Amino acid sequence: MECTCLSRKEVKPFVSQKKERMDYYDNKEQQREGVGRRKGDGWMNWESWEFSSWRDAILSCLTPSAYGKRWKAEGRLDEEELRSCRPRLKQFWLETVEHLLDLQAMSSIHLCSAVAQPAVVVMSVKMEELEVFCKQLPKIELHAHLSGSITRECLHEIYKKRKEAEPSIGLEDPMIVIPPGKVDYDLETFFPLFSKYIYQLCNDVQSVRYSTKRVLQDFEADGVAYLELRTTPREFKETGMSKEQYVETVLESIEQYEKDASTSMKTLLLLSVDRRDSFQKALGCIDLAIRYKHRGVVGVDLCGDPLRLQKGDVTIFREVFAKARENGLGVTLHFAEAAKTSSDEELLVLLSFKPGRIGHVIHVSDAIRTEISKRKLALELCISCNVHAKMITGSFQDHHFRDWWVEKQCPLILCTDDVGVFCSTISNEYVIVAQHFGLTRLQLWELSFQTIDPIFGGEEEKMRLRNLMVSWREGNKL
Ligand code: IMP
Ligand code: ZN
Repeated sequence: MECTCLSRKEVKPFVSQKKERMDYYDNKEQQREGVGRRKGDGWMNWESWEFSSWRDAILSCLTPSAYGKRWKAEGRLDEEELRSCRPRLKQFWLETVEHLLDLQAMSSIHLCSAVAQPAVVVMSVKMEELEVFCKQLPKIELHAHLSGSITRECLHEIYKKRKEAEPSIGLEDPMIVIPPGKVDYDLETFFPLFSKYIYQLCNDVQSVRYSTKRVLQDFEADGVAYLELRTTPREFKETGMSKEQYVETVLESIEQYEKDASTSMKTLLLLSVDRRDSFQKALGCIDLAIRYKHRGVVGVDLCGDPLRLQKGDVTIFREVFAKARENGLGVTLHFAEAAKTSSDEELLVLLSFKPGRIGHVIHVSDAIRTEISKRKLALELCISCNVHAKMITGSFQDHHFRDWWVEKQCPLILCTDDVGVFCSTISNEYVIVAQHFGLTRLQLWELSFQTIDPIFGGEEEKMRLRNLMVSWREGNKL
């Protein structure tokens, strides 16, 4: 069953105010903790909207009339507002109840705080079950930066090896530089992590080989069936490694990994042009991609710090990406990541490169949005990255995934972007959309299935993935 969506104004009366009236709690301590109790019923948690039973959730004060009346009495909405939203709210709650009844194993229900948001939603039965489901679901990852996907643990191992060989190494332990659990890197603090640290740590054949292998293992262990990994070719003056050698090392690592009989994930490579690159440098990247097509390079990307465009004009890349397309490479672009570089003018130039997919898609005007919908462009959405890096206002439930999901014009692709930094795996991104936007298991499967078409990996690979997904669905009786 599909969720009903209401506008922000319509939902306003039902927005959680968290600090609820004292009579929902047994004592002050419970109130402070946010865990309350409705007399005679089970428990509920106002912070997380958890209820001990679905009946409690539905029958508690979360009904339109009860909330509406109270909020009206408190002067938070006027009569007209209440009248205008009532019929749709009623419909919404009826559907919500049906939706809850559809769910299995209803021992505990989490009504996420998105209840209060426009993409109104209900959800999630037993978190662990959902997590297991999302992990087992065959998934496709199309937007993952190699260096950003290396875990802190892996960086730490590389550091230890280098430190043994070179005790005077002028680098700190990654566990100090990128403390475990820290995910709140914003656009100012995120990019220097690479330029000032990770690139200096992983700067030779061994570390690139080792980190690539570990990244592949991590994705496969998380249930990824097909991966398009992207990386910016770089050279290391200190170790004499050229861009060619870098790309070869990554490709060799993928080939090695796939030779192992116990692996079944398919990995292909995209090469990234950095927004700060000159025309010549960018062209060099495309030429490398063309040269290594036969070894598994299937596309190119435009990435890099969106706040620091060297020439202030993306038109210099037009010819570069045209060459990529002429040579049969897929094109994907980081798109509208920062407000400062998301003018209609700039975005129209990017769209003129005819990308097959675009990533992030945050700061888009109505006109650009309409154009994207018209083209039915596949959207690589990186929810956790956008939330943690404060690239969007608000939290998970405010992510623009909701708008595009409701609109149904463009294929949506959940992506990690930089799982090593933001620590949210691709299966966790599926958990997030179930939790915050109310997707059922079948819808999660459909979401994964619709990411097959936008891959750059060719028809044969698409067939393999379709067969895999269909048999998984049948096996899981979805
Ligand atoms: P690499 O290309 O494998 O070295 O991965 C790290 C690089 O990817 C960074 O230096 C950035 O240029 C790019 N990158 C990672 N995440 C983002 C993002 O969210 N936006 C734009 N570029 C990114
Ligand atoms: Zn990215």
